[in-house]
Amino acid sequence: MNSLIPKLHKINKVSSNSGSISFLEASEVGFDIKRVYYIYDVPSGEFRGAHAHKELSQFFISLSGSFNLKLDDGLGNVFNFNLKYPYEGVFVPKGYWRDLSEFTSGCTCLVLASEIYDENDYIRDYKKFCEYKKSL
Ligand code: TYD
Repeated sequence: MNSLIPKLHKINKVSSNSGSISFLEASEVGFDIKRVYYIYDVPSGEFRGAHAHKELSQFFISLSGSFNLKLDDGLGNVFNFNLKYPYEGVFVPKGYWRDLSEFTSGCTCLVLASEIYDENDYIRDYKKFCEYKKSL
């Protein structure tokens, strides 16, 4: 899973009459998980993201509800995902601009992250992001 291309992955799921359970091990995520966070209470019509990371890799899962995840490599390649099942997730490599939108009411987005929080790893200006990608 440690590729440089964003990709939708199926997550293990075991269902029975008493419900379902899904599980992921670090080897399946593609990086050692150093941080977990979740996005919730997003008002209808609001957006999140609008930034890129220089080093951080992430794995996005919609635990409930759905949202759109748009990923842009700054070099003309765009990937769109609609995350709506708790048994699938998107691997987001470093160096992708992300826009999250169309959150449904009650949506909870779980994010697994390869690094602890570091504001210096963010690029929050799209033009600077494209310049950064071209300079690599
Ligand atoms: P941000 O990553 O911009 O959120 P999103 O991509 O969902 O729009 O973070 C929003 C705010 O939360 C920002 O002030 C930084 C803070 N934050 C932390 O302090 N620690 C964290 O692990 C994360 C993800 C965010």
